[in-house]
Amino acid sequence: MTPQPMQAAVATEAVPLEPDSLAYVSAQNRDVPPAGAGEFAPLAIGPLPVWPPVVLAPMAGITNYPFRALCRDFGAGLYVSEMITARALVERNAKTLKLSGFNPDEKPRSLQLYGTDPHYVGEAVAWLVGENRVDHLDMNFGCPVRKVTRKGGGAAIPARPRLLASIVRAAVQNAGDVPVSIKFRLGIDDDIPTFLDAGRVGQEEGCAAVALHARSAAQLYDGEADWDAIGELKQAVTRIPVLGNGDIWEAGDALRMMRHTGCDGVVVGRGCLGRPWLFRDLADVFDGRMPQVPPRFGEIADIMLRHAGLLADWFGERHGVRSFRKQATWYTKGFPGGPELRSRLTQVNSLGDLEAALATADRDLPFPPEAMRMKRGKKAGRQRVALPEGYLEDRWSDAPPGPEAEDPSSGG
Ligand SMILES: Cc1cc2nc3c(=O)[nH]c(=O)nc-3n(C[C@H](O)[C@H](O)[C@H](O)COP(=O)(O)O)c2cc1C
Repeated sequence: MTPQPMQAAVATEAVPLEPDSLAYVSAQNRDVPPAGAGEFAPLAIGPLPVWPPVVLAPMAGITNYPFRALCRDFGAGLYVSEMITARALVERNAKTLKLSGFNPDEKPRSLQLYGTDPHYVGEAVAWLVGENRVDHLDMNFGCPVRKVTRKGGGAAIPARPRLLASIVRAAVQNAGDVPVSIKFRLGIDDDIPTFLDAGRVGQEEGCAAVALHARSAAQLYDGEADWDAIGELKQAVTRIPVLGNGDIWEAGDALRMMRHTGCDGVVVGRGCLGRPWLFRDLADVFDGRMPQVPPRFGEIADIMLRHAGLLADWFGERHGVRSFRKQATWYTKGFPGGPELRSRLTQVNSLGDLEAALATADRDLPFPPEAMRMKRGKKAGRQRVALPEGYLEDRWSDAPPGPEAEDPSSGG
């Protein structure tokens, strides 16, 4: 199929579309045609073929089995677990073991690991692989949280390429046939970029792919991701796939990112919060179709109940439903009457509470087009990145920073 702009594709597409479907394509994506036949290859992460070339970003507190299952039901691709700390895994911490688990229906099983010490990383990987608990490992080197970077962990690690290399090596050498990828940010801030070094380290140490969240640690989640930098990384890392991450809010964004940067796949974070059907849209556009009109509120309420039900099964009803409260605010973002409904939803303690709250809403409400690009999951704002005293004066050190640089509750 010859790629056509989105507008032309509406007129010629065989699948009947509601007339207002273009209201859900933002101005920047109006002229973006769905993928042409053969335009993009499946992403190959080592032996794992991934089609469409789409990865659910690891998100702490979110990408547990229930959310992965929900997203997977809508689409296809690779669905990464939330971050698991190597040391806690080695110590067989009960909560960590629970979070690191997969359901038998999950294939491939993709786990994100965080560690700052090659010894613990090696032990954790050897155990995960030896027990046949994973099919893919991603390693997090992008955490911008102050209490982690000020001890030399998270996004501070790539500023010391030899330390980064030693941690990655420990993972790859213990992973056997299980492919390992690494995920990192642009750098500490505008003045201290680290992503090109990190990409080269990943490639040299035998990673199967690298992923760039195209923001610095100083930027946190603020402003726009710098897609040009993803293109730069793609030029520098030529032997393994390069994944781009940052600001995929609509399916058209993924196509634009891949066409603009030449990257091999996309990693989708906040765009799917409260919108797991984004993975259906992504599967559609990569297979040459227009995305469908987003669900109306009634269907969204059913998806919410399913999501909360899966969380209740996985974590127990009380904990599962309470952890759903923040998700409920994302599902209802932008809907008229949202604030009142949201205040009820943020107090639910049981599936019954949730059902009762949702029953008060109008099932016919269409999805608000302005909610397509509304930010979710993290507050705006930047930071001055805290690093250990003298950290940048000894960038060739490979000394592990110690256990205080690991905070299991933080993310990337
Ligand atoms: C709530 C939340 C938790 C996150 N936790 C992690 C994490 O544990 N590991 C990680 O590598 N990145 C984490 N991230 C970062 C995302 O994986 C992703 O890099 C980031 O959100 C940028 O992509 P986006 O613009 O599509 O959201 C987290 C992001 C959010 C919003």
